Parts: sequence; C-alpha cells; structure tokens
Amino acid sequence: MKKVSKYLCMLLCLVMLLALAACGKQAAPASAKAEISTVVPGKLTVATSPDFAPYEFYAVEDGTPKLAGFDMALAQYIADYLGLELDVIPMDFDGVLNELAAGGVDLGLAGLSPDPKRMESMDFSEIYYQGGQSFVTVKASADKFKTLEDTNKAEYAIGAQNGSIQMDLANQYSPDADIVPLVKVTDIIAELLGGKLDGAYIETAVAENYAKSYPDLAVVLEVPYDTEGSAVGVKKGNEALLAAVNEAVKAALADGSMDAFIAAANEQSTGEIIEGLLDG
Ligand code: ARG
Repeated sequence: MKKVSKYLCMLLCLVMLLALAACGKQAAPASAKAEISTVVPGKLTVATSPDFAPYEFYAVEDGTPKLAGFDMALAQYIADYLGLELDVIPMDFDGVLNELAAGGVDLGLAGLSPDPKRMESMDFSEIYYQGGQSFVTVKASADKFKTLEDTNKAEYAIGAQNGSIQMDLANQYSPDADIVPLVKVTDIIAELLGGKLDGAYIETAVAENYAKSYPDLAVVLEVPYDTEGSAVGVKKGNEALLAAVNEAVKAALADGSMDAFIAAANEQSTGEIIEGLLDG
C-alpha cells in the first residue's frame, strides 16, 4: 500500500511538472480576453477625431449624426475580435494624442502616423492603411504652387492641424509662411474655401475625399514624408493589448475586411451625408 501511494505521488509530481512546463512554453493566445486589462473592464475605450473622412467622420443616418469611417469599422472589428464592448469617445485630434499619453483610453484610431516622436508616450500597431501627404489649395490658386518651394513665402497663410505630422511638414517645407494651426481638419477645409488660407497640408486620402464634396479644392502637390501609413495608437506598456490588436489588424487585412471597410467609407463619405463640415 505504501509503495502504491509512493508511485502515485511520483506520478502526480510528474504530471504537475509536465503541466508547468507546458504553461511556460505556450503562453495563452494574445487574444484571450482575460489577459488584457483595459481602462474600463470589459470595454475597449477608443479615442477618435471625426474630422477626417474617410477615416472617421459623422454621417447622417435618419437625421442623426453617427460616427462612421474605416477607422470606426476597424475599431468595431478589434473590439469583436477581443470580445470587448466598444466605447468610442470623439475629441479633437490633439486630445487623442493627450488621452493616449495619459493612459485615459486603451486605443486611438484617428489615422495616426506612427511618428517616432510619439513612441515615448504611446505604442503603435502594425500599419493598417497606406496613405500619403498632400499640399492643398483652391482651384483658382492651383497655378501658384508648382513645387513645394512655391509654398514657402511670407505672404501665404498655410494651415495644418494642431499636433499633427502635417504641422511638422508645414514647418519643414513652408517655414517662411504664416503657419496657421487649426483644431479640426474640417476648419482647415472651411478656411481654404473661404479664402482665409492660401494652402494647407492634409493627408492625401482626406484631401481627395473632401475635394469630391467641394470641387473648389485642388490637391496640387505630393509631400514626401518618412513614416507613411496609419497605425492604431495603443496605451503605452500594455503588451498584451498591443499583441492582441496586432493579431486583430492582421486578421482584418487578411480576411478582406479592411478592404471592405475602406470601400464602404469612401462610398459613405462623399456627397451630402457629411455632417457639420463648415461649422466644424
Ligand atoms: N496622420 C496625421 C498624424 O498622425 C494626422 C491624423 C489626423 N487625424 C484626424 N482624425 N484628424 O498626425
């Protein structure tokens, strides 16, 4: 009897050892919900700046403005993938950066460029969309801007969004101009159309999108930029969340969802359904 219990004990020890070894080798999948701590338990809290069609904007549905755009569709996809309830908080773009840096939100989806300067205060997912940068003016002024050097004159008022990499581009390529920081991209569009700005630096997909609704706009120059593409901003230091978001982004790119989100957003964001363009 004694012998039996000795063997049993040894067997049990072996099983436990094997179980421990297995634990060490195979970390739980990043998408396992229990692994991920979020700002509000059970929820995915996401900051966005809905002045940026087709990434994020307000579309009118049955008379009420509703958040739309491919970033919003991707946010929902990520939340579903992680089994979390999505909570999107709209704010100005510099607010998205501040909230991420302060850890007040889990994610920022706002056409964010993974600018190395931002990496001290937030993490970034893999790129989910390849964009580009443009200099934009109105049709009547299009001839004045043949090269980026033409934008660099003291007589010009040149707009860019507060906190954005477009502000860096304005400082880099038009340092002699009067650079006007504006809170919303929709303000920039309104001021261009109203003749208060001579030009502006805007993400190409956004500039082309608004040019479809406002044919007076002219997207005249391509602007070189090193860190091209958009990534999800992730609250700094949450490794499990970052890994899970990367898994979700990879899946959205692989299963055709991202392409469908982009097509739907482009379709939805042109024409009269854009809400609040000129009153910001
Ligand atoms: N890609 C630029 C940046 O990260 C501009 C993003 C602006 N986004 C927005 N939703 N307004 O600085």
